Amino acid sequence: MIHLLSTRDLSREDAIGLLDVAEDMAAVQDREVKKLPTLRGKTVVNLFFEDSTRTRISFEAAAKRLSADVINFSAKGSSVSKGESLKDTAQTLHAMGADGVVIRHHASGAPFTLATSGWIDAGVLNAGDGTHEHPTQALLDAFTMRRRLHGTASRGRDLDGVSVVIVGDILHSRVARSNVWLLETLGAEVTLVAPPTLVPVDVTGWPANLEYDLDRALAGAPDVVMMLRIQAERMHGAFFPNSREYARTWGLDDARFAQLPASTMVMHPGPMNRGLEIAARAADSPQSTVREQVANGVSVRMAALYLLLSGERGEAR
Ligand code: CP
Repeated sequence: MIHLLSTRDLSREDAIGLLDVAEDMAAVQDREVKKLPTLRGKTVVNLFFEDSTRTRISFEAAAKRLSADVINFSAKGSSVSKGESLKDTAQTLHAMGADGVVIRHHASGAPFTLATSGWIDAGVLNAGDGTHEHPTQALLDAFTMRRRLHGTASRGRDLDGVSVVIVGDILHSRVARSNVWLLETLGAEVTLVAPPTLVPVDVTGWPANLEYDLDRALAGAPDVVMMLRIQAERMHGAFFPNSREYARTWGLDDARFAQLPASTMVMHPGPMNRGLEIAARAADSPQSTVREQVANGVSVRMAALYLLLSGERGEAR
């Protein structure tokens, strides 16, 4: 693997291989000494042009647990506010010796540009680009599903036949897009549920069913319900339907949560709008994997950094 830009680029073998390396990394997290010397001497730059809590911190933790040096860059408070371009920003950081660049950017395609422009010579990991993709989120989601379903027998397994309902603001969701492609590769059956106003125009080309009625989708007792954040910041004003109507019609409220089988996993990538797309009872229940997703994110990002920057696939040492 040279870069990690999109889950659409991943073969089934690559995806399962990465999830298996993440299992090795998770085993390291259970040890008293959580660090590996694997990336000693390498430098990872976290290049964040958009806000983040989970992704930025878990990439930093992942790089440090592999003994890499980490440079954190946030556009806020940097020379980006003086008009410095992506190219000049990236080349400035690369001049400080980056082997890997983790980039989050508001523009869809920015990581692809960085990886293919020849501006820098480093592995590029997409940490979320506009409304396009968030591949490590989808990988940690798949890792979480695999672990809940198969426990210690997860290694080598795909998600064949697993039913996943993804609910909410599909239009603005890079998490939904990355999940749809990865879950299809791993054999899962995906149903998207959203108000008609929050569905992308190209959705008919996605490998997923489309449903507008949440109650009908949940009546099928899916294995996984993944609630998405309403991304008000991308709507440039009021969104339709309004918050109250949205919560009533497309939210996982107490009544809908009570109807779900106890075996159904409730997922959310975070940050959550409690009371809008998900009720506190669902978010904090034993069926919720929200905190597991965050913990698993470190293992999955360790695996991605290891595979990109060590240039080989294998057992973690
Ligand atoms: N899930 C996710 O990307 O969260 P952050 O925006 O906090 O990184």
